[in-house]
Amino acid sequence: MATSDLPLPEQRVTPDLIRRKKGLHRITFVTAYDFPTAKLTDAAGFDMVLVGDTLAEVVLGHETTLPVSFEGMLHHTCAARRAIKRSLLVADLPYGTYHASQEDALRFAVRFVKEGGAQAVKLEGGRRRVDLLRRMIDAEIPIMGHIGMTPQSVHCMSGYKVQGRIVSQIERLIEDAVALDNAGVFAMVLEGIPREVAKVITEQVSVPTLGIGAGPDCDGQVLVLNDLLGLTFKRPAKFVRQYLDGSSQIAAALAQFMADVASGAYPADNESYHLARELKSKLPQILNRIRSSQSN
Ligand code: KIV
Repeated sequence: MATSDLPLPEQRVTPDLIRRKKGLHRITFVTAYDFPTAKLTDAAGFDMVLVGDTLAEVVLGHETTLPVSFEGMLHHTCAARRAIKRSLLVADLPYGTYHASQEDALRFAVRFVKEGGAQAVKLEGGRRRVDLLRRMIDAEIPIMGHIGMTPQSVHCMSGYKVQGRIVSQIERLIEDAVALDNAGVFAMVLEGIPREVAKVITEQVSVPTLGIGAGPDCDGQVLVLNDLLGLTFKRPAKFVRQYLDGSSQIAAALAQFMADVASGAYPADNESYHLARELKSKLPQILNRIRSSQSN
């Protein structure tokens, strides 16, 4: 496809546009969790915004992504929806929503679209999710896959470990990626895998790969917003590039506000509302009236 066939930058991003970017344009993808962060990411021009289950860690303060509920994810997806005009909004199915039955999973995915306004749904896992993915795609829901170091499997992996460093894992990853591609996902996240393996997968599949800790050869990149803004309180992973020292900047702003309140420097006269001149001159009379009515 020629570059001129791509929709204009101001047009709403669709899963089809994401698919068509493969090999032509690097895809930009980032998480957001509420109205202000979604508004800023949309205005910045990202192709896609993910309300990720990392919400559990970076917003709600849990140790892993596992505890966040569907209702919690939906609540934040709705907030992001109200802010986003152009980027493709993807919602992340949290742990437990697609593990019990395909019927439950389908209902949760439909709710993300119907109630949350998500245009696509993401879930973790490779070959064993294929039947479920097919049912969701049949139900008109664009699906994004997610393989590699999948945080919802933290206990099965005995911690967060880079995947694909031994032959059996490399084989499994390539087979998973091809299975997701054949099942009809419009894109897939590759998380925490060696660059060389991500490159092979990117060349093998027909849909875009979105790397996070998977090296520069993927079709696009995704990062957790709070990581890139320096708003997490853990040691960042190797692949995180911090573009802002958000914690220090917010801490400095809070300290300044506190100092200004303590010293009386805040609020200034021009940060105050004022009475009109004629009412201001009547203030002493108003006060006298109140005093005399109180003394009677
Ligand atoms: O939940 C999330 O933030 C994610 C990204 C790491 C891709 O799944």
